[in-house]
Formats: sequence, structure tokens, C-alpha cells
Amino acid sequence: MRVLVTGGAGYIGSTAVEIMRHQGFEISVLDDCSTGHADSVPSGVRFIQGSLLNEKEIAEALMGVDAVIHFAGKSLVGESVEKPDLYQRVNVGGTRNLLDGMHTAGVKKIVFSSSAATYGEPAVIPIKENAQTSPTNPYGATKLEIDHMIHAESEIRNIAAVSLRYFNVAGALNCDRGWLSERHNPETHLIPNVLRSSGETPVRIFGGDWPTPDGTCIRDYVHVIDLIDAHIKALNSLELGVHEIYNLGSGDGYSVRQVIAAAARAKGQEIPTIDSPRRTGDPAVLIADISKAKSILGWSPSRGIDEMVSDTLASFN
Ligand code: UFG
Repeated sequence: MRVLVTGGAGYIGSTAVEIMRHQGFEISVLDDCSTGHADSVPSGVRFIQGSLLNEKEIAEALMGVDAVIHFAGKSLVGESVEKPDLYQRVNVGGTRNLLDGMHTAGVKKIVFSSSAATYGEPAVIPIKENAQTSPTNPYGATKLEIDHMIHAESEIRNIAAVSLRYFNVAGALNCDRGWLSERHNPETHLIPNVLRSSGETPVRIFGGDWPTPDGTCIRDYVHVIDLIDAHIKALNSLELGVHEIYNLGSGDGYSVRQVIAAAARAKGQEIPTIDSPRRTGDPAVLIADISKAKSILGWSPSRGIDEMVSDTLASFN
């Protein structure tokens, strides 16, 4: 089976490529390398350095493909507030082009990277897939719009689709090419920032007065290897004319201070921190209910916060 991995040069996409090629999948990658890195794509993989905004490049990437895993997109909440048009054009417009290209090429299977950001500020914790969706930023709004677009596509064009709503992805894969690490610039995510914290540039704790036990925000972290395992299970579960949504997290929450404590354990030293104001758009608590992915996909994450932090640390060395 040949799978097109859009965004296959990025942090999560390149991890998927590595795991899947070792499981016998044939892989094509489409990535414009605006945030991904061409050197993350291994030799032997068909690589089209191109854009979802270019129909010809999409058609070329879809040649001989049986299914698509669609990671590509803009993914920074803060940037989306500053540049909502960019997020609309790349995420929504790009996915529209991809779905149209799939229709022309007769490709009927897609697994899409959606986000917990589609839910916004949740009324009930843990969050189930049927919770109200009310995104609090343009990034989450574009992911929700794409989920709706894919749902319509499953009804109108009979495609087989799954949207996977990621919570906070962390950790790294060590492969024969070394560690595939998170290489974002700028880096906004908590775990990399905590691990890179120093006396001169201490990690900022965004808000210490949230309504949580230690006053800092709580998030649900899932290891990138467990996440990719869920994608492969989702790919195998696809049914024509059906669009399913699954939350992917660990089902447990960790506060910012608990993550900092895990990083201190991994590094064997205290992590310098500085108390800072709340970050705009942050919900206090996001924890996934993952019972649907467990029961229907037969998926269960096996790596905890200490492994995520220590793998991220190892990938930076
Ligand atoms: N945080 C800090 N200091 C930092 C970075 C983050 O205190 O330097 C805090 C944030 O305020 C938040 C928590 O750590 O409370 C996690 O922040 P991240 O930026 O690591 O992740 P987010 O929860 O903001 O967002 C991530 C993804 C989104 C996705 C969301 C879904 O980046 O794409 O998870 O849960 F939508």
C-alpha cells in the first residue's frame, strides 16, 4: 500500500514516515519545507517538495497512491491570531485542493490531523469527541472547518475518512538516522522550552493563578510514537462513506509545574523558571477522553510523561 504523507518533513510527519516505512508501507511525501526540513525525509521515499496550494504538485504527489495521511498545515496558535488569512488559505484552502486532487486521482482514503483546539474552552473534562466545538483561536477554527469539509466529502464523494484530534504531542523517535527531533523556530511548546531553560533564559510559566491545584495550566501529553501507532490503526479502520473522529491523548493531565518537575528529574538538575502573565487564548485544563480510540481502534498509549521528556531531551543532544 502506498501512502502519501503530507507534511512528511515535519516533526510528526517525519516520525510517521520512519515508522511506516519500517512496517512495509510505500511512502510518498509532499512538503513545501516552510516549517519542515528536507533532510528529515529519508532516501528511498518519493519526495515532492511542493505545496498544497499548487494543484499540479498535488497531482504529482498523488500518483500511485492508495491513501493519504494529511499532517501538513500551519499549527501555531499565536501566529494564527496574527495571521488568520494565512491559516485559512493554507489549512482550509490547501485541504480543499488536496480533497479535489484525491477525487481526480480516485484516492478515497484519508486520515487527517485535527486538534483539541477545535473544542475551545471545554465545559466538561475529560473531553469526548461529541463535546461542543467552540474554538478560541483561528488555528482551531480552521481545523474544525476542515473536519466539517471532510465529513461532507465522505457523504458526497463517498470517501473513507478519520479525523484525529491531537492533544499535546511530545517525545521523539530514535531511528537508524538518529533522533527525529522537534525543530520549530520559534519554539513555543512547553517541553522543549523547559528542557532548554537556562539561568539567562529561564522558561516562562504562563500564569500561576489558574483554577487548578497548583495554579498552572493542565494539558494531556501523548508520545509521538503512540500517536503514529494510532494513525496506522486509523488507516486500517477506514470505511467508504464514513467519517470518524477520535481524540488522541493519554487520558491524564499534567500541570506546567508537573512537567517542569519531570524535566528536572530527566536532567538531574533544577529548571530555572520565571513567573509570567497568562498567555492569551490558553484554556485552563485540556484532558482527552480516549475511550473511543481504545474501544474502536484498539489503541492504547504506552509511554508516560517521564519517557516523553527524556526522549525529547535525548533528541536535543
Ligand atoms: N507554556 C508555558 N511556557 C512556555 C510554553 C507553554 O507556561 O514556554 C504553557 C502554556 O501556557 C500551556 C502549556 O504550557 O498552558 C502547554 O503549552 P504548549 O504551547 O506546549 O501547547 P498548547 O496546549 O498551547 O497547544 C498544543 C498544540 C496545539 C494544540 C493543543 C491542543 O501546540 O496545536 O496543544 O491541546 F491545538
